[in-house]
Amino acid sequence: MRRIDYDRELHENYARGRALTGRQLQVWIDAFAAVLPGRRPLTGLDVGSGTGRFTPALASAFGPVIGIEPSVRMREVAEARPGVRYLDGRAEDLPVPAASADYALMFLSWHHVADKPQAVHELARVLRPGGRLLLRANFSDHHPRPWWLDHFPRAHEVETALFQPLHEVIAMFTANGWRVTDFTTVTEPSSGTRRDMLDRLRLRSLSFFAHLTPDEQEAGFRSLERAVAEDPDAPAPVFAEPLLTLERG
Ligand SMILES: C[S@@+](CC[C@H](N)C(=O)[O-])C[C@H]1O[C@@H](n2cnc3c(N)ncnc32)[C@H](O)[C@@H]1O
Repeated sequence: MRRIDYDRELHENYARGRALTGRQLQVWIDAFAAVLPGRRPLTGLDVGSGTGRFTPALASAFGPVIGIEPSVRMREVAEARPGVRYLDGRAEDLPVPAASADYALMFLSWHHVADKPQAVHELARVLRPGGRLLLRANFSDHHPRPWWLDHFPRAHEVETALFQPLHEVIAMFTANGWRVTDFTTVTEPSSGTRRDMLDRLRLRSLSFFAHLTPDEQEAGFRSLERAVAEDPDAPAPVFAEPLLTLERG
């Protein structure tokens, strides 16, 4: 699969296309709290922080956090909101001292990591012993099927190529001294109506679309538009998203 460079694509519409409601954000923060130690403050890293969808909320809920993001354009959007520090970096090369964080969140950034074995080592370097990695990732054998996805006939093939199977991700970490502490799913409340969701999808802020040809995208959107037109004001259906928590040995 071709690599997505967020400096060249997606950055423009990402914040709008992927915005979370306050309730959705709270559901995620509660899910993170459930798998993190109870003491506060916790020092955190948001690795692949993008436009900072989660970073300020992590700071409010848990304590000081640094957003680490390789795309300048994504960081610029995040930095427009003051209060959190963002640094240039990537999971394979984190610009922070060894054993300096209690947890790292990687929210839909793991599949973008080019050198995953190096990232496993680097994440172990920056976390304290017992530190947690919260991996909100899709897995080729455990990935959420949003209600709109099947309108794009090659979706399954693309997703299988984009994501590793769950056991492979677990094996990469456990072979290097990590252990799994939790595997759960989180269901965000609906973000609005089916029509709202269609409007957001049209912004193409999901990297999935970049792996389809323009013809495939157009045909998929035509099919989706017909389906949405049947009941545009119904709430967009929800789906369960995987969250894997690993502990550094
Ligand atoms: C789908 S976005 C997720 C952003 C943010 N976590 C969120 O949920 O809104 C994926 C992000 O991963 C970043 N990324 C790409 N390669 C990366 C790497 N090697 N390490 C960490 N992040 C990376 C991209 O630049 C992009 O901002």
